[in-house]
Amino acid sequence: MRSLTAERTHRFTESVIREMTRLCNAHGGVNLAQGFPDFPAPAELKEAAARAVNADVNQYAITWGAKRLRDALVAKTKDFTGIEYDPETEITVCCGATECMVAAQMALVNPGEEVVIFEPFYENYGPDAILCGATPRFVRLREPDWSYDPAELEAAFGDRTKAIVINTPNNPTGKVFSRAELEHIAALCRKWDVVAITDEIYEHILYDGEQHVTLASLEGMRERTVTISGASKTYSVTGWRIGWCLAPPALSSAIRKVHDFLTVGAPAPLQEAAAAALSLPRAYYEWLALGYRQRRDQLVPALEAAGFRAFKPRGAYYVMTDITSFGHPDDVGFARYLVSEVGIAAVPGSSFYSDPAAGRQRLRFHFARRKETLDAAAERLSKIRSRTASH
Ligand SMILES: Cc1ncc(COP(=O)(O)O)c(C=O)c1O
Repeated sequence: MRSLTAERTHRFTESVIREMTRLCNAHGGVNLAQGFPDFPAPAELKEAAARAVNADVNQYAITWGAKRLRDALVAKTKDFTGIEYDPETEITVCCGATECMVAAQMALVNPGEEVVIFEPFYENYGPDAILCGATPRFVRLREPDWSYDPAELEAAFGDRTKAIVINTPNNPTGKVFSRAELEHIAALCRKWDVVAITDEIYEHILYDGEQHVTLASLEGMRERTVTISGASKTYSVTGWRIGWCLAPPALSSAIRKVHDFLTVGAPAPLQEAAAAALSLPRAYYEWLALGYRQRRDQLVPALEAAGFRAFKPRGAYYVMTDITSFGHPDDVGFARYLVSEVGIAAVPGSSFYSDPAAGRQRLRFHFARRKETLDAAAERLSKIRSRTASH
């Protein structure tokens, strides 16, 4: 009998993060699996959203984004990176960076072509390539600093390569790509005439003096780069579903067509609120990064004291850990144990690798949580050693 579901959906699995969230809710646990904040969004944003709803901004916005938001994006991007984009032809507002990524890949990648993706990866990139009928080519980021082997990356490029996906600051590793690494990637993109799709959703969450280098600022890259970011992480509003792609006109025009047929447009009143957010002063971004540094510096020692080897992140709000010291054969079993017995949900490392074996001794935690939530997590973590001993 023929399958009633399309073969493309057989090539990837349901996100294990959702299973962890379900288990966590069932056990009343602390959810350090799915990366979203449990603290409030800035008052300015909420007031701007309420104003927009009260002003009856209730109908479809222009499909590629409300004018006010596109203008605000141009001003903020110029201010932070020096790059000037045309709001009329180079910006597409989508339903989150998630839609930006799938729309960009669908707009730019043909069936049979290849997309280079670093692993461990953010879960969507591979399935997005598969939805395009393309083949992901994975290149390993290696701990402890999550650098890649230049020869391995060079070997991944070839005649069939159409795009490379970069994510800096990186989920799940906390790596921040250095300028030298990005120069190397840029040279390969130019050599092989490849498009770079760069997910910079954590652009403002950096620690220890790290600097965010936006790939489009490198020589010859503005014309072949799609830069993706959004409101979710920078303004703590992951449920608002506002993201944006910045790309040269020909690329933007293709992305806009796909976006139009995928979702028509992002929520209109929330686009107005995101426009207001983009004019927050620089002090806001410093405050945001400082808050996350404090949360990182609260969670990482608690994990280490409990027996995890933590790879301290340089950006974003996740920490990848090595669970070898617990002597548990696999990450999924250990994650299930952790959520049901200890009351902490984390994501099994295997979900970030094309070969699950590579993540069998890894777990990812996130720390977009209030201090009290992280205190509760630390309290529970402190009980692991005795429990694993008797387990
Ligand atoms: C690297 C990365 N890109 C994109 C997203 C999703 O962004 P959005 O909420 O804008 O769809 C996430 C969320 O966790 C992420 O970690």
